[in-house]
Amino acid sequence: MASRRLSRVGLLTGGGDCPGLNAVIRAAARTGFHLGWEVWGIEDGFDGLLTRDVRRLTGRDVRGILQLGGTILGTTNRRNPFHYPVRKGKAIVEADRSDEVVRNFKALGLDALIAIGGDGTLAIADRFAGKGMKIVGVPKTIDNDIPATVVTFGFDTAVNTATDALDKLHTTAESHKRVMVVEVMGRYTGWIALHSGVSGGADVILIPEIPFDVHKVCDTIRARERAGREFSIVVVAEGAVAHHGRQVVREPKEVGREPRLGGIGEWLAVEIARHTGKETRSLVLGHLQRGGQPTSFDRLLGTRFGAAAMRLVAEGRFRTMVALHPPRVLAVPLAKAVGHGRMKKVPLGSDILQSARDMGIGFGD
Ligand code: F6P
Repeated sequence: MASRRLSRVGLLTGGGDCPGLNAVIRAAARTGFHLGWEVWGIEDGFDGLLTRDVRRLTGRDVRGILQLGGTILGTTNRRNPFHYPVRKGKAIVEADRSDEVVRNFKALGLDALIAIGGDGTLAIADRFAGKGMKIVGVPKTIDNDIPATVVTFGFDTAVNTATDALDKLHTTAESHKRVMVVEVMGRYTGWIALHSGVSGGADVILIPEIPFDVHKVCDTIRARERAGREFSIVVVAEGAVAHHGRQVVREPKEVGREPRLGGIGEWLAVEIARHTGKETRSLVLGHLQRGGQPTSFDRLLGTRFGAAAMRLVAEGRFRTMVALHPPRVLAVPLAKAVGHGRMKKVPLGSDILQSARDMGIGFGD
């Protein structure tokens, strides 16, 4: 590894937390220490560069964190320095505070930054790279919706959590001959729903990529009933949409944050009960999917990403993002991973989708 004269590298985690973040922090920090560099932790994403809430990391800080969920650096998915929410009288308005970030970055003597985050954080990172900051991105999200990488860390753990829940729900659904509707996360994509639904033996899987018809969902449940299967498990992604319907949101978009999705499961359970007459229950898995110990897959991927990101810093390859293209971890231009219309959705030609259909799993279409 060609070590340049760089000596002080900042690390931050932004957006929703996800299992595996600490594995990235640990690997990046240890790789930096190995190069003889200072590694600084920035608290709460880009907010830490506004407040100068930073600390020099030592070996002690990153010891024993590999298996921990969350992030030792803290995070936020509410505040974008380019559209920062500020109070003006009674209203909350947007202000551009990006120049303050750049000033503080320089004042802190940071030579480079590793930004670990989802689409929002990486888009912000790309804009700061455009303002001259030396940045390498690391893609994270349970949603797996970042393009240019085959998978993000956190996704595998979330899928495992959801699959485990489906296993548990099977026994109670079967005992009571009920329909159980399970709402999972994933924002505007159906990766978690599809992977956990197939792994957990769901009967119906509803994803944003395939608008669904409630009547078709009920047909699948009735067909099972006729075949002597008196219970059904329906997995619905929080971003799934009924034909001619709209995404169900708990909170609309606000200054500095995306709309909060959720509620489709509850709505669907009422519709299923109304049309089929079957007793139906719904539950929202929610943030359970974001917590807990990362799986070994996510620890390994996080470790590979963290070390690779620090290597890119050493090689002076900035405005890039580490990405998994099995069997390799590569650098891709940051711009390839961010921006509207770049979200990685479940391809309709996916073999997983096809296999599920071939086995009779309903998609409500
Ligand atoms: O992007 C990760 C994610 O967990 C989404 O799946 C979900 O829609 C969102 O974040 C929830 O955000 P919050 O933690 O703000 O409720």
